Amino acid sequence: MPQGEDPSLLAQAERIARDFDILPDQVRSVTRHFVAQLKDGLANARPWQLPSYVQSIPTGAEKGEFLAVDLGGSNCRICLVNLKGDSTFEVAQSKHSVPPSLMVSSSHRPLFDFIAQRLHEFLEKRTDLADQLPYSLGFTFSFTCEQTSLASGRLIHWDKGWDIPDALGRDPCVMLQDAIDRQGVPIRVTVLANDSVGTLLTRSYMSGPKISTLAAMIFGTGTNAAYVEKLSNVRRLSTTAADTGIMVMNTEWGCLDDKMEVLPRTPFDDELDASSTDPGSQMLEKRVSGLYLGELLRLAIVQLHRLRVFTMELDKKSPVFRRDSIDSSFISKLATASAEGAIDLVEDVLSAKNTAPDDAQAIQLIASSIARRAARLAGASLAALIIQSGRLQTSHARSISLVHKVEEPRRMEISSSTSAQRFCQSLGLLWQRILKFVGMNPITRKPRGCISSQQAQMSRDNYTDQGTIDIGADGSLIEFYPTFETEMRAALRDVTEIGVAGEQRVRVHLTKDGSGVGAALMAQAASQMGKNG
Ligand code: BGC
Repeated sequence: MPQGEDPSLLAQAERIARDFDILPDQVRSVTRHFVAQLKDGLANARPWQLPSYVQSIPTGAEKGEFLAVDLGGSNCRICLVNLKGDSTFEVAQSKHSVPPSLMVSSSHRPLFDFIAQRLHEFLEKRTDLADQLPYSLGFTFSFTCEQTSLASGRLIHWDKGWDIPDALGRDPCVMLQDAIDRQGVPIRVTVLANDSVGTLLTRSYMSGPKISTLAAMIFGTGTNAAYVEKLSNVRRLSTTAADTGIMVMNTEWGCLDDKMEVLPRTPFDDELDASSTDPGSQMLEKRVSGLYLGELLRLAIVQLHRLRVFTMELDKKSPVFRRDSIDSSFISKLATASAEGAIDLVEDVLSAKNTAPDDAQAIQLIASSIARRAARLAGASLAALIIQSGRLQTSHARSISLVHKVEEPRRMEISSSTSAQRFCQSLGLLWQRILKFVGMNPITRKPRGCISSQQAQMSRDNYTDQGTIDIGADGSLIEFYPTFETEMRAALRDVTEIGVAGEQRVRVHLTKDGSGVGAALMAQAASQMGKNG
């Protein structure tokens, strides 16, 4: 500890929390740098700004039943998606944790055999599907993959702690198809999608023909975003100004500024990066996504423990002393915990004993500063994407014609905006606290949409009139961290080009599990293309 510094726990915690602050000027320089990088990636072959080959956007009228495999950072889901043609869908799915031994392995075969086996088991239970085989399947693959068409690509690198060297450079669709063939299952892998692209398509399907969705963001184990770009701007594909139409771009924004020209850094970021499976890569992701935030907090707690400023006791077996042992859900839970609740959480998650109120408060303070920095960096990144898209200048009517949407009558579904949900969650929390205060046991319920379909219709019409910038979002951070969207919006307002007026046009909609449905939407588009010759 530097000489003359207040040695108390809270003073030390405040010092660490300040290191995670990101001021408006820094937000602006991150946005500026990211806009330049997005442009660079459109013109040159970089591992970011990857064309998805998706060139039309769902209208909500798509129909049919499609299989999808959604391989995320921790789980693999097998989904049977029924697109009903009215912006709604049903999903039957089986979800499986991917064993860590398959995430880090010298060969890709065990991973893909695992997926094919789960697919086989899923189909064995669905005897009703037998007469519809061979099935076409959409594959959502949430890693950096340069696509060469809708149905093929080349894996550029692993991240999120995965490392299977012999898969690099190979086509994920071929690796999956080979494994499916080894199982003897009559399925054809027809499309490949990044999860951010899938989520964008799902949000677009759900929002229907009146709203032209611009982008989708993922804040889960990893982070990424996809957005709608003018085809003529995608010069890495040798397009010219004469090329009309659109291209959905997989930005792979987690790797923007890997050279660390503008991103903030603390000693904890450096330590985390040095011990990761991919040092020097995914530097934005390592500051924003769920896989890393818990680890940043753990490293800060270790430092305070070394300074001997905690009252709480931690024995050698505490997760505090094990790498990657603190989940970012701890950060979300701390954010809404009362003083007493935070002590219980700390004792439970960190296996601490004799925890003092100051211990829990110090940990809460650091946790919230880590999450705030993540949300503000997310805001700076979203600002870059909005600026690059040109949507701030484009009237809504024009953006609709850009994606060739067809107006047709449709049933309204209740749109679940994250802010509306947050409001309900806050009411729920308040209610739980009141019940707790009067000594009654709160009954925990899942938050439910709290706007009526009539209200949804009204707000949707308003959005259209005001030139909404419609964005889908998925991932546990944006779903569960109570002020993630609020902090992200504050950063959007800090960016001069966006300001208050631009920020108010942005609507963020939670699009849960959109990645699998998006792959089904792509499989649907591929099957239509097949039928049309
Ligand atoms: C991957 C992206 C993915 C994101 C969210 C990142 O680590 O590189 O392809 O979209 O995680 O899952």
